[in-house]
Amino acid sequence: MKVSVPSSYLGHESAKMLAVGNGDVSTGPARAPDIGPLWDDGCSCGRVLKVESETFWVLISARCKTRRVVAMDAARCTLAVTMASSGQAFREFEQAGWESASVVAKYHEHISAVTTQSVEALLDAAGIRSGSRVLDVATGAGYIAGAAAQRGADAIGIDFSAAQVQMARDRYPSLRFEQADAEALPFDSQSFDAVVNGFGMCHFPNPDIALREAFRVLKAGGRIAFTVWDIPERAVGFGAVYAAVRAHGSVGVGPPAGPNFFLLSDPERGTKALLTAGFVSPSCRQVPQVWRLSDPDEVFQSLVEGTVRAAATIRAQSPPAREAIRAAIRNAVAGYRRGDSYEVPMSAALATAVKP
Ligand SMILES: C[S@@+](CC[C@H](N)C(=O)[O-])C[C@H]1O[C@@H](n2cnc3c(N)ncnc32)[C@H](O)[C@@H]1O
Repeated sequence: MKVSVPSSYLGHESAKMLAVGNGDVSTGPARAPDIGPLWDDGCSCGRVLKVESETFWVLISARCKTRRVVAMDAARCTLAVTMASSGQAFREFEQAGWESASVVAKYHEHISAVTTQSVEALLDAAGIRSGSRVLDVATGAGYIAGAAAQRGADAIGIDFSAAQVQMARDRYPSLRFEQADAEALPFDSQSFDAVVNGFGMCHFPNPDIALREAFRVLKAGGRIAFTVWDIPERAVGFGAVYAAVRAHGSVGVGPPAGPNFFLLSDPERGTKALLTAGFVSPSCRQVPQVWRLSDPDEVFQSLVEGTVRAAATIRAQSPPAREAIRAAIRNAVAGYRRGDSYEVPMSAALATAVKP
């Protein structure tokens, strides 16, 4: 089915108008006979309205619990709709992992020392200053919300893990943290000057939906900025893990299928995702970060103890494969020896854009 949507309807809360039919793109309000439901499974979110003999409108309620419109491209007359349950297994897997008190503690102990190196660059990219109303999505222990508050911003953090939200509240008692899903934000449209997200996107089953939600809650002129791990060659800790699994183990075992971990590390894909969500003026750049270690085995150990997806991939390997993977990671890290310690490159890819 060929579909088009006027971009002015993106982000509306009540209903979305889409023109469909013989490939013609037509825009404008439809006042036409309702000729029936769009879907044949009883879901009432889509109605087909007839405009002319070969041209129809489709009305899709944005409040549908069953379906979600994940991408619309007026220029190419395409519409992508997922069932809301899509990615459910992956979401449940991630959430269960991030609810573990020991994963949260180990992430904080070992990995946050790396991710916090790009916080100031992220806040600069989002234009955070005193008085900015900021939403920190996938806040973890609240690092970015806390740094935004240091600049005088009015910052709120959300995370779907109750364990992370508790840790954030303990660390920053004067700030507000809520348990919420990045793909269904519990905030009014147009209520923030900036949405920031540090290393959260690679954990979402539908990053496109998370971007659309960020778009919705931003005011016009507001900025989004997010970081993800850079490409495997520059985020060497993670790159070494997946290279070792490919060389010595099995890639398709462990966690339920989810989006490619490095999907948005590619500036072209990051730019496209931002434009698809409705943002303008996208830009992507690298932010150098370094993982300082005293022992080359720490990368393997920290990732097994303080992450969710990488850890599950490693745990699912056979014992001999796991040992080979551990040795391969140790060797890769050993190449970054500086005096008595190791300095492993762990760059971030930072993307930013504006809501028009
Ligand atoms: C790698 S940590 C990043 C934490 C922190 N922002 C940082 O920069 O270190 C990823 C966080 O995303 C959260 N998360 C994953 N999927 C989520 C979702 N769908 N909605 C909200 N939070 C999510 C996890 O609970 C975890 O706290």
